[in-house]
Amino acid sequence: MDSVDIQADLTKVLHTEAEIHTRIAAMAREIEADYPGENLLLVGVLKGAVMVMADLARELKLPINMDWMAVSSYGAGTQSSGVVRILKDLDSDLSGRNVLIVEDIIDSGLTLTWLLGNLRSRGAASVEICALFRKPLAAKVVVDVRYVGFEIPNDFVVGYGLDFDERYRNLRDVAVLAPHVYS
Ligand code: XMP
Ligand code: MG
Repeated sequence: MDSVDIQADLTKVLHTEAEIHTRIAAMAREIEADYPGENLLLVGVLKGAVMVMADLARELKLPINMDWMAVSSYGAGTQSSGVVRILKDLDSDLSGRNVLIVEDIIDSGLTLTWLLGNLRSRGAASVEICALFRKPLAAKVVVDVRYVGFEIPNDFVVGYGLDFDERYRNLRDVAVLAPHVYS
C-alpha cells in the first residue's frame, strides 16, 4: 500500500520506502564492519519489526540466524509500562552468541530496556540493539542503542510494520497518522 492510497488517514510522510531502504543499507555496512566473520543472531520483535528484519537480513553480507520474540507491556492504554510479558519466547539458545535485537521503534525505551536485560541474562557473548526509529522526546529511560535508523518527532506513526489497531503495517512509507483516525 502506498501513502497516496490512504492520503486522508495521514498528515505527513516522514520517510519514504526508498529512504528507509537506503538507511538500512548504511546500517548493514556498519553492522558488517562491527561483526567481521561472525555468525550473528538477529532477534526480531514481533510484529512491528517484521519489515525491518526482512530488509536488514537480506542486506547483510554476513551469515546470520533469525529468531523472533513477541512481548507485550502490561498497563493501561497505549502507554508502555515497562512491565513486560513474553508472549512468544526465542527458539534459540543464546549461550556464546552475538545477538542483535531488531526493533521497529523506540518510544519510552521501557520495552527494550527490559528486553536487553532479559537477553543479557541468558549467557550471550554480546547483545546489541538495532532500531529503525527512535523518538528522543518520548524517552523515559536512556537505552544503549548501537544502531538507529532515524530520529523522529513524538507523533504516532504507522507503516513499514508499524500499526494502529493492527492496520497500516503494509504501508510502504512511514507516516504520521491523522488524529481523526484514532480520536
Ligand atoms: P516503548 O515505549 O516501551 O515501546 O519504547 C515501544 C513499542 O511501542 C510501540 N510504538 C508504536 N507503534 N507507532 C506504532 O505503530 C508508534 O508511533 C509507536 N510508538 C511506540 C511499538 O510496538 C514499539 O515496539
Ligand atoms: Mg514493537
